[in-house]
Amino acid sequence: MIKKEIPFSIEIYASADELNSSDGNLLARARAVTKEAYAPYSNFRVGAAAILQGGKIVTGTNQENASYPVGICAERVLLSAVASQFDGVGIEAMAISYDNVNGESRQPISPCGICRQSMTEYEDRTHQPMRVILAGMDGEVYVIENAHQLLPLSFTAGDMK
Ligand code: THU
Repeated sequence: MIKKEIPFSIEIYASADELNSSDGNLLARARAVTKEAYAPYSNFRVGAAAILQGGKIVTGTNQENASYPVGICAERVLLSAVASQFDGVGIEAMAISYDNVNGESRQPISPCGICRQSMTEYEDRTHQPMRVILAGMDGEVYVIENAHQLLPLSFTAGDMK
């Protein structure tokens, strides 16, 4: 038996004010777009913003449904939009935030497992690491250097060879 450590590192900023201007702008877009979420069931309004190779910014929000499992997280709404409209273009960074209508919004959001799986595959298919910026409406901001960091031992196309 050998024991293998998988390193995970995260940059923690005291607030959005400490981010560089590109990341700060992207997070501002993610926070602003929470207004466009369709989240009448959870009242947890998530916004995501991606900056693509070449500098274009695309946004997405969570879209819920009366049949709850039909709902889609903001991250995957965004990834689907990017993949459909900008075929093959990598995402340099994705910022994610949320407006929790019935509670606080200070703890950085934690993307769900399905979204982590989607984000890692998007990195693989475009060969572009995606920096991930996680925050609430204020408070600390977490920056992770790529989506694969968020999902060690992810299932990939290579596992089916
Ligand atoms: N949600 C997202 O859109 N992204 C996340 O990272 C976490 C959760 C959504 C799904 C659902 O519409 C609501 O937030 C509550 O789970």
